[in-house]
Amino acid sequence: MERMFVPLHDGSRVLVRPIAVEDAPLLRRFHGSLSPQSVRDRFLSAKPRLSTNDVRYLTDVDQRTHVALVAVDPARPERLLGVARWVRTQGSGTTAEAAFVVADHLHGAGLGSALAIALADRAVEEGVTSLNGSMLAGNEASEGLFRRMGGEVEVSRDGITNEVVTTLPPRSGRLALLAHNRRMRPGRRTPVRSPGGRRRAAA
Ligand SMILES: CC(C)(COP(=O)(O)OP(=O)(O)OC[C@H]1O[C@@H](n2cnc3c(N)ncnc32)[C@H](O)[C@@H]1OP(=O)(O)O)[C@@H](O)C(=O)NCCC(=O)NCCS
Repeated sequence: MERMFVPLHDGSRVLVRPIAVEDAPLLRRFHGSLSPQSVRDRFLSAKPRLSTNDVRYLTDVDQRTHVALVAVDPARPERLLGVARWVRTQGSGTTAEAAFVVADHLHGAGLGSALAIALADRAVEEGVTSLNGSMLAGNEASEGLFRRMGGEVEVSRDGITNEVVTTLPPRSGRLALLAHNRRMRPGRRTPVRSPGGRRRAAA
């Protein structure tokens, strides 16, 4: 997948594309714009800013062993709206660890699902059969994203963190299908995060 326009639930479009080294300042700004809760959910700890090494690691990727995608508003491509990645597990050609983060104001708008499916597509293309994730207990949105990848999901809960293992379906091309379906059926609503950061039910 090089670049793809994907509709969100409200019908607006985002552009999903591979991350590039030139995205370093955009990533730094995006990270600084996230709520402390979103940062904690993403990194499983507080991380007020990204170090130079962090930024290099997160942007200078080979798109084979470390696949990273970003979503931008086509009208404001200098602003990241979401970032998703997987990194192949050392010593294994077929499993990888996935992580996502979406701008707080867009939670529940359907971007995370699109990024999850894009990651699953890229995994299948690269021969990765299982995507795993670690998340804080209670992060239902994140667990939901692994379920949206379309495979078998196993969750182990140990109190503070949950570990998810998703065995992927064998075919890719599901992001194009999602984009098509959303164009046909715009306007679906999902739960959103309250301005205070924790979760609330759909209105
Ligand atoms: C997890 C995260 C990426 C989800 O992104 P998103 O754009 O809000 O996701 P979507 O709008 O596509 O929703 C994905 C699913 O989660 C559900 N969901 C979304 N927000 C939710 C919330 N606050 N509470 C419960 N469920 C939620 C949706 O209903 C949807 O499920 P469905 O498709 O079955 O309806 C986003 O909440 C985020 O950035 N969180 C902070 C970082 C993080 O938790 N990363 C994951 C750990 S690596």
